[in-house]
Amino acid sequence: MSKADLKLERTTDRDVDVPIHIAVVMDGNGRWANRRFMPRPAGHKAGVEAARRVIEACGRRGVKALTLFAFSSENWRRPEEEVSVLLDLFLKTLEREADRLHEHQVRIRLIGERDRLGPRLCRQVERVERLTRDNDGMTLVVAASYGGRWDIAQAVRKLAARVADGTLRPDEIREEDLGECLALADIPPPDLLIRTGGEQRISNFLLWQLAYAELYFTSTLWPDFDADDLDEAIAWYRGRERRFGLTSEQLEQASRA
Ligand code: FPP
Repeated sequence: MSKADLKLERTTDRDVDVPIHIAVVMDGNGRWANRRFMPRPAGHKAGVEAARRVIEACGRRGVKALTLFAFSSENWRRPEEEVSVLLDLFLKTLEREADRLHEHQVRIRLIGERDRLGPRLCRQVERVERLTRDNDGMTLVVAASYGGRWDIAQAVRKLAARVADGTLRPDEIREEDLGECLALADIPPPDLLIRTGGEQRISNFLLWQLAYAELYFTSTLWPDFDADDLDEAIAWYRGRERRFGLTSEQLEQASRA
């Protein structure tokens, strides 16, 4: 297969206004299944197909990083059977898709409390991260057993350890020091957050990193979300004025300079 045939290849449709990093809260799998009188796991399976579509579409549009919220710290409180279906689905999806993503130069990462995911899934995650570590295409981050509060707490623990061993003074701690200890330290923060399923909240996703993200909410349920929906979200994003605390006039002056 030639490079040109690769569906995930970054193409010339890369546009300066395409977000560098998109983060997604994939909500609505359960409702999608309920509406079809199907069990919830059927919704999660359809959710995996939607994730595949969106990963491919982001790759084609030149998005550099895509972070998918697959399983939150709070999702552990779901019925045991659903948790086990979800973890099994992640394992099977990784086993099935990793080679294809690797061929397309996608770099895969997992963020979250990975020890809780169990040894089999952990081993598979480590294998896939190692396999794709040096790829230079899109970075795909899967947030599993992840919570923004957990992320900040683990970063604080790292800083506290440096204070305890005398290599950092408390009054010298800067925002950047904490940022550097967070799970996505080496990736620019998300420009655009998409949440499907109609709810308008962050749900303990990337609390620190979303500080200046544009927030896009759609009632489309995740299993129905496709490349056209992604384009709609990106078109909406293009219409936003990102001021980062400045005034419109300041931004205009800066763009003229
Ligand atoms: C929320 O729907 C979705 C999840 C808990 C995440 C599951 C996501 C997938 C299976 C997609 C797979 C992604 C990867 C990267 C393998 P919900 O159950 O909360 O829906 P509801 O609000 O309608 O009940």
